[in-house]
Amino acid sequence: MGYVVAVSNDKGGAGKTSVAVNLAGALGEAGARVLLVDADERGDATTLLGFDGNATTIGTLADVIVGKVPAAMAVVMTAMKNVWAIVSSPELAGVGAVLATRSGQEQYLARALAPILDQYDVILVDSPPNLELMARNALGAADACLIPVKMTSKLTHKGASDLADAVADFNESGYRVQVVGILRIEPPSVRKAAKRLTTELGDWGVPVFRTKIPQVAVVEDAEALSLPVMLHAPDSNAARAFRQAADELLGLLYPPEDEAEAEAAPVAVPEAEEAEALTEALVEAVEAESDPEPDREPEPEPTSMNPVAPEESRYVVN
Ligand SMILES: Nc1ncnc2c1ncn2[C@@H]1O[C@H](COP(=O)(O)OP(=O)(O)O)[C@@H](O)[C@H]1O
Ligand SMILES: [Mg+2]
Repeated sequence: MGYVVAVSNDKGGAGKTSVAVNLAGALGEAGARVLLVDADERGDATTLLGFDGNATTIGTLADVIVGKVPAAMAVVMTAMKNVWAIVSSPELAGVGAVLATRSGQEQYLARALAPILDQYDVILVDSPPNLELMARNALGAADACLIPVKMTSKLTHKGASDLADAVADFNESGYRVQVVGILRIEPPSVRKAAKRLTTELGDWGVPVFRTKIPQVAVVEDAEALSLPVMLHAPDSNAARAFRQAADELLGLLYPPEDEAEAEAAPVAVPEAEEAEALTEALVEAVEAESDPEPDREPEPEPTSMNPVAPEESRYVVN
């Protein structure tokens, strides 16, 4: 099962969309299968991916939420490796109003995504800038919540704290959303002020990503072209930071096997006889290799038509 990660902050301009789209690209580059769900009726992530919701897809998130189109049918491929998307459209605003009158109104997204969760390693949900129905549906579907904060904006700090409180309230009513971390977006020039704000963040007891995303013009340049920075400037510091953040997130979602345990495990030492037999077998194998039997088919050389087996995915899908 893939992990659903809501990218949330109830303030606009916090960097949610930028983080959701570029982190999706970086996760995809790292080999994870990623689905990006645009849960904001403004469709900024949809635009950034180069889509015009209604014009290019069988169904948008609005259709999926109301059950008109199954999630699997609404998934579209993106230009980023290993990244698929369910796009947004302005109709999503109307859906919120319809759901508001129904019971279990926070669970529509979770239910819609359930049949396709095992096809992805990470499902990122780009949330709207509020705590209204779609934002709560994002949390209702989420295993984890990632909160971007612009270090230059006191407002987005406030948004992060509101969000952390909202997650705590949410969990009190039976959900289990883990705040996986605050992701700082910081201009290179404000180190001192940012340091103070980071200390403040630490005081809340919410984890903070080690990686910081630089607040730099190249991200805005890419956005002006409706491109993720991962595609527009893959060698930029910003793209590198997104890759580092993706590795950090994967390490949190899929922690490596307990290394201490592996080290402590006793190493099997073959008995003398077994060791001798093993040596003989190895010698035989080496001789056979240097003197192949004439009727044995040689191993085919890997070519582009006959590639070597792909490496197995690092990510365990339960
Ligand atoms: N790392 C960054 N560097 C420079 N500008 C950024 C960065 N991240 C986001 N921005 C800019 O900040 C604005 C708000 O970002 P956005 O991702 O749309 O926030 P939200 O989705 O929270 O409203 C956008 O104009 C975007 O280009
Ligand atoms: Mg946004």
